[in-house]
Amino acid sequence: MRILSIETSCDETAVSIVEVDGEFPTATYTLVGNALFSQVDLHKEYGGVFPQLAKREHAKTLVPMLEKALREAELLEPGTTDIDDEGALREILSREDNLGDDLITFLQKYSLPEIHLITVTTGPGLEPALWVGVSFAKALAIVTKAPVVPTHHMGGHILASLYDVEVDDALAPIQFPALALLVSGGHTELILMKNWGQYEKVGQTRDDAVGEAFDKVARLMGLPYPGGPEIGRRAAIARTAGLPPYGDKVLPRPMIHNDDFDFSYAGLKTAVRNLVGDKTLSEDEKNALSRDFEDAAIESLYAKTLKAIDHFGIATLIIGGGVSANAFLRQTFTEKLLTTHPHIEVYLPHRHLSTDNSVMIALAGHAQLATARTAGAIAFIRADGNRSL
Ligand code: KG4
Ligand code: ZN
Repeated sequence: MRILSIETSCDETAVSIVEVDGEFPTATYTLVGNALFSQVDLHKEYGGVFPQLAKREHAKTLVPMLEKALREAELLEPGTTDIDDEGALREILSREDNLGDDLITFLQKYSLPEIHLITVTTGPGLEPALWVGVSFAKALAIVTKAPVVPTHHMGGHILASLYDVEVDDALAPIQFPALALLVSGGHTELILMKNWGQYEKVGQTRDDAVGEAFDKVARLMGLPYPGGPEIGRRAAIARTAGLPPYGDKVLPRPMIHNDDFDFSYAGLKTAVRNLVGDKTLSEDEKNALSRDFEDAAIESLYAKTLKAIDHFGIATLIIGGGVSANAFLRQTFTEKLLTTHPHIEVYLPHRHLSTDNSVMIALAGHAQLATARTAGAIAFIRADGNRSL
């Protein structure tokens, strides 16, 4: 089965072609074409993602990404693709700037290969950004006659962490109940996975997401967006150099001793703001404060995750989402965790699959198709359907 997957929930425009051999969860997933454009430079000057700007960029970039993914997969054939109903295709893309024209021009130039399934992120994410991807999927469904599976972005992050792209192109076998710690720009949550598709949210942030805290704290220090990678880099320098803490107060570890599995990051961000005030920090001070913040942020994640592992009797821990790219987080949840919990299997995504991508949307769409079929309920997106998700 050949899957074409689309991700446009935030500021990455991504299209992948994945060849699937077998049934979920034991299938082999060969990534034959992968194209991703990050809009980060565009959003940098605003210090965050602007939904309308993201939408425009997705509309501009989707056809080039489709072309790139097909070329990489060696499936880009010169020729023409028949469009049965050009009017319907134009109608679907009528609110997406030039995307309709761009797609039709593309289809007049190339003959699309056979596609068996289209998977597209339908949430969570920025609404205007999501719509471009969904409309594009619907338009491609008209041309390819492939069904479209609406796909959950966070479910994608979970599967990305299990996907071994370097060794066997397969998903790691896991033991249920498993626990997923999802850490991104919009989410910080602990998911108890009782089985495939049977997910229960057992903890979440009560205010800011941890990635959002990285980004906001970076901004307070005058560091560029996205703040996560920059803070991680500086924190590592501070640790190697053994820099003393910035300021004389230890940063708070919010909710660390509470009885639940929830998180909170707004207080930590405010504590950093109070510490920095309107001072201009030296490079050493920025590095030290990055490390102090990272210590506090990761310690809260670690404490609550450990609590959940013990409470639910977990043997498989999956960590996914953009913040899972963080080196200190990776070290904490592997080396440190194994000193007290040697029996735990920890799965982290390949570095290229930590942040948003469309490979994870192919995996999650295929998984959703299988689990929903078992439950007898799969709601395909219809090309002629209305715009409700
Ligand atoms: O999953 P993702 O790409 O997008 C969302 O679904 O939100 O996550 C983006 C978040 C941003 O907040 C970014 O600062 C953070 O992941 N991030 C990191 C690192 N790389 C990305 N945070 C800490 N350390 C990193 N190395
Ligand atoms: Zn994400």
